[in-house]
Amino acid sequence: MGHSDSVINVQARQNFWMPFSPNKEFKEEPRMYVRGEGMYLYKPNGDKVIDASAGLFCVAAGHCRPEIAQAVYDQLSTLDYTMPFTRAHPKAFELAEEIAQFTPGDLNRIFFCCSGSESVDSAMKIALAYHRVRGEGHRQLFVSRERAYHGVNMGGVALSGMINNRRAFGVGMPGVFHMRHTGLPENKFIKGQPEKGVDLAEDLTRICAMVGGENIAAVFVEPTAGSFGVLPPPKGYLDRLRAICDQHGILLVFDEVITGWGRMGAAFGAQKFNVTPDLLTMAKAVTNAAQPLGAVAVRQDIYDTITNKGPEKGIEFFHGYTYSAHPASCAAGLAMMEIFRKERLIERAAEMSDYFLDGVFSLRDIPGVIDIRGIGMMAAVEIAAGAAPGARGHEAQKALFDANLNLKATGDSLIMGPPFIAERSHIDEIINKMRTTLTTLSKSW
Ligand SMILES: Cc1ncc(COP(=O)(O)O)c(C=O)c1O
Repeated sequence: MGHSDSVINVQARQNFWMPFSPNKEFKEEPRMYVRGEGMYLYKPNGDKVIDASAGLFCVAAGHCRPEIAQAVYDQLSTLDYTMPFTRAHPKAFELAEEIAQFTPGDLNRIFFCCSGSESVDSAMKIALAYHRVRGEGHRQLFVSRERAYHGVNMGGVALSGMINNRRAFGVGMPGVFHMRHTGLPENKFIKGQPEKGVDLAEDLTRICAMVGGENIAAVFVEPTAGSFGVLPPPKGYLDRLRAICDQHGILLVFDEVITGWGRMGAAFGAQKFNVTPDLLTMAKAVTNAAQPLGAVAVRQDIYDTITNKGPEKGIEFFHGYTYSAHPASCAAGLAMMEIFRKERLIERAAEMSDYFLDGVFSLRDIPGVIDIRGIGMMAAVEIAAGAAPGARGHEAQKALFDANLNLKATGDSLIMGPPFIAERSHIDEIINKMRTTLTTLSKSW
């Protein structure tokens, strides 16, 4: 398998409790990387692994970009840290201004945090604070969706609709209602947005009728559900959610932690689907994942309302993190903004999308492949469940690693979302490795 040196290290070193991982299995049978460059990760024995999922859909510009490494080094050797409460540094302002060039509509006020999960919980608090200062503090409820992933902090877990992320922790916060997901059985093997399913948005109308739309603070959706296995929105669905939110004075939040920064073939899902939310969360590709950074882009008048209603000289919004707008993260973000512009990375993602999706959809004839979904530069191949749900997906991602391909499996969906620097030859390599490995595995399914 080519990872014998790491076996020795890992078995001797048991202290690391790995997140979202089968710890016992991994420590018996480690699969490690020691280096990255461009489209590839490298195993300890030097084998080159093509990164079909850009890490966790975050390394949009490819691994180990020297411009970002240099920017982080320069920043850390100039100003490594300053407290973000009541003090600041110039790059936080510069990065917020840059980000606001890409965000939709007037979502031009940027609140920084350190991860996607924190951006979701921050957005929940901004929504609650906004309603409260307007005298609508009774808006305490949230709506999200089955099969949603909104991170792992308590608010985000309550919003999420993935059972394993919830069951060990109770249901998280009370007061969250879930719409049905949009993965309809009749929408199998559809490239892009399905025609059917707009009616599912009426779940929001039903929830409003049940709990009172005037009691709902915000609706959270991923424009395309990502982590669960890529569910592009049915045509008209997001527009309908927007209209129902407007009707009831509810804020619409797009969680664009994955879909943001080009993954959909536009800067954000908001532009791709032509629906503007009131708040938008982001993380991952904003720094090419070279430094942790999350953010909430907020409609200007929401920011104005919260700040103007606050005290003349006191704090207006009691929220923030020690590492909010960390100088090194802002430096990485600014270097990434330059890469986005110089390399036309978002446009590149849009241009490569058809080739990528055609390749992925060509895998539909492999026995055991029961669905393929994809949009922009993100796609999932779903294989028929075996004895236990997720068991085949888990085996497949290990076999793919052994075949020198890296991707993320959720349940039995194998999710791909390569870096946007991918050339056609890289896409071909990904598709060929998928075909060979899945065809071999399918003989035992
Ligand atoms: C839509 C969405 N929201 C939130 C998160 C959580 O982000 P993080 O892992 O940076 O906390 C993710 C992570 O994949 C995500 O896909």
